[in-house]
Amino acid sequence: MNTTLTIAINKTSKSKLPDTNFDDLKFGQTISDHMFVADYENGTWGNFRIEAYAPLQLNPANATLHYGQSVFEGMKAYKNDAGDTLLFRADANQKRLNESAKRMCIPEVPEEIFMDGLLKLLEIDNAWIPNKPGCSLYIRPFVFATDDYLGIRPSEKYKFIIFTCPVGNYYSKPVSVKVECKYTRAAEGGTGYAKAAGNYAGSLYPALLAQKEGFDQLLWTDGKSHQHIEESGTMNVMFMINDTLITAPTTTGTILKGITRDSVLTLAREMGIKVEERFLRVAELEDALRNNSLKEAFGTGTAATIAHIAKIHVSGNDYILPEKDESAFSNRILKTLDDIKYGNVEDVHGWIIKL
Ligand code: COI
Repeated sequence: MNTTLTIAINKTSKSKLPDTNFDDLKFGQTISDHMFVADYENGTWGNFRIEAYAPLQLNPANATLHYGQSVFEGMKAYKNDAGDTLLFRADANQKRLNESAKRMCIPEVPEEIFMDGLLKLLEIDNAWIPNKPGCSLYIRPFVFATDDYLGIRPSEKYKFIIFTCPVGNYYSKPVSVKVECKYTRAAEGGTGYAKAAGNYAGSLYPALLAQKEGFDQLLWTDGKSHQHIEESGTMNVMFMINDTLITAPTTTGTILKGITRDSVLTLAREMGIKVEERFLRVAELEDALRNNSLKEAFGTGTAATIAHIAKIHVSGNDYILPEKDESAFSNRILKTLDDIKYGNVEDVHGWIIKL
């Protein structure tokens, strides 16, 4: 694929590839050799470069460290059997990065910078893309403030960086979740829809409390009444109640507009599945758990892919869901998505860039 951005390239003299065990990839722990970097100064992006992945030098007064002006993305590239690289829905990630950036007063990253930087990085670190089933190259683009200034105002300088990690599954087994009715992840008018660093920081403490009780994740409820299911900390969530697929809508500004979420809904509608984008009431979820009309529950996310939910804790009760093997819809959707991502079927949606 042709790129037009002028990028200075300074490759590492010592690749970490020979020391990397691709059979034992733990999510986010193995980082590829290089990163793409751009600086924003005087109202414009420039100084485009690809260099060795290495620590950054920041002053203690760096604005991000104090006020959290930082947004990020998560996306994946795959290798097919023929050795081609397939990049999934990168255009959607670029757009969502800028929606998040706008909310956090961060300058947008133009498509050319995002895509050309990414494609060049994937070319240089191509050998880092796993070619094993279930594995992929997780791509982490992010933008953060770099002013050294302690007053409260949007920074005037920023860095945009992309680095990558070969990964396997984020969740190695089905997850257990607890419906959270005290703490709030996002409120209407807030930043819930943005992929902003602070959203994740604020969710850590309640999630930790749930982990101490033995649950993997929270099912967040709305901040006003705590009576409606919103999303989980690492993924959107979907419920198959009888033959209807239900997931929270993205109209309140409190839900992350998941790209996997959108892909699943698109494919489900094409499969003729009845889809409802509406808030599932906690009481409705409890009823469906009690009368066994909840056939499947799963999370959707770039990192999580399709994550089977095995147990839901709500109002003091634990409910065990049908086994993963019995979850016909989520297994079918995972297979369909994988077939698209690994290039086993025709990409009729235009979701794939083949490099
Ligand atoms: C992603 O799915 O890309 C995310 O950013 C979620 C995070 C838990 C890794």
